[in-house]
Amino acid sequence: MRVVVTGAAGFIGSHVVDALSGAGHEVLAVDAPARSLAPDVARRTWAEVAARPGVVAAEADLAVDELDAVVAADVVVHLAGRPGVRDSWGAGEAIAERDNVRATRRLLAACLDRPAGQRPKVVVASSSSVYGSAGRRPNREDDRLNPASPYAASKVEVERLTGLAAGAGLRTVLLRYFSVYGPRQRPDMAFHRFVEAALHGRPLPVFGDGRNSRSFTHVRDVVAATLAAAAEDLEPGIAVNVGHREHVTVRDAIALLTRALGVRTEIRWETPVAGDATRTWADTTRAEELLGWTATTGLAGGLAEQIAWQRGSRTGDRAMAEGAGVG
Ligand SMILES: NC(=O)c1ccc[n+]([C@@H]2O[C@H](COP(=O)([O-])OP(=O)(O)OC[C@H]3O[C@@H](n4cnc5c(N)ncnc54)[C@H](O)[C@@H]3O)[C@@H](O)[C@H]2O)c1
Repeated sequence: MRVVVTGAAGFIGSHVVDALSGAGHEVLAVDAPARSLAPDVARRTWAEVAARPGVVAAEADLAVDELDAVVAADVVVHLAGRPGVRDSWGAGEAIAERDNVRATRRLLAACLDRPAGQRPKVVVASSSSVYGSAGRRPNREDDRLNPASPYAASKVEVERLTGLAAGAGLRTVLLRYFSVYGPRQRPDMAFHRFVEAALHGRPLPVFGDGRNSRSFTHVRDVVAATLAAAAEDLEPGIAVNVGHREHVTVRDAIALLTRALGVRTEIRWETPVAGDATRTWADTTRAEELLGWTATTGLAGGLAEQIAWQRGSRTGDRAMAEGAGVG
């Protein structure tokens, strides 16, 4: 199968490429690392991704570049975009509009422009943030959407465009990812910041009072759901929650993290982020029924993997810096 992965230099995208390459698929990895929230991290990941067997890496900015060649595939897994609620306020709103909405509109249009019969199936990344905060039960896909930030609003628009493309004859599926973590997690995300702070002996920076809860979902489980969605024949335009069915408070997650780190940690409480959900909680019935998927990685073990990766990448950085000094 020939698969295009956009956002391939990113956290989730790089894992999706690894899995596809490992399974022997032909992969066109697409990204514009300069558009990343963390361009230096994306450039490093990009170089690693480009070296995988069966992978061709093509730099393209989906918001401006010609996309005809990009969409010549059996499946497009569209993960490129500007993630994050916190950074989407102020100047971030225009970036979310450009890299989430405009990029997706252009990508879908390029797919629709292909002759019928040669159009790829398109798997599109959405987010739990489209729901706003969950109430006393987990969010189901047919719940009313209640976006509370420019980022969430951009994902609602991405979903609307994807639905229109489905109506126009494109096989699309929307995956609503819930707080993904694990090795290569983005540096702006909570666990990455907590581990980094702890490893430097600094207090953990926590937005709000730590009572917020999330369906934290390990990236390995997210990749499995994404590949299953790419393979299954689903009703065009359908949305599927990709989240762990248990939600855990930030305080409880920090307790697990501290135990796994084996260090004493202090907390620096920071002003809550506007638009951040107090609770995200995934109802996974649809994913179980349609994809045969459920998240199986527990938070304690998953966090230990992320900590091991962050410890290893710090050692790598130090070795590189020392090597540069000697040279
Ligand atoms: N990580 C999560 O917890 C999470 C949760 C919900 C939804 N999502 C969504 O999943 C997708 C992947 O998230 P991630 O955490 O891997 O983010 P990421 O920032 O690590 O990866 C996104 C990649 O997209 C690329 N990109 C941005 N604009 C582009 C453009 N115009 N053209 C080409 N490439 C562009 C960036 O360079 C980056 O490498 C995003 O759409 C995000 O909104 C992520």
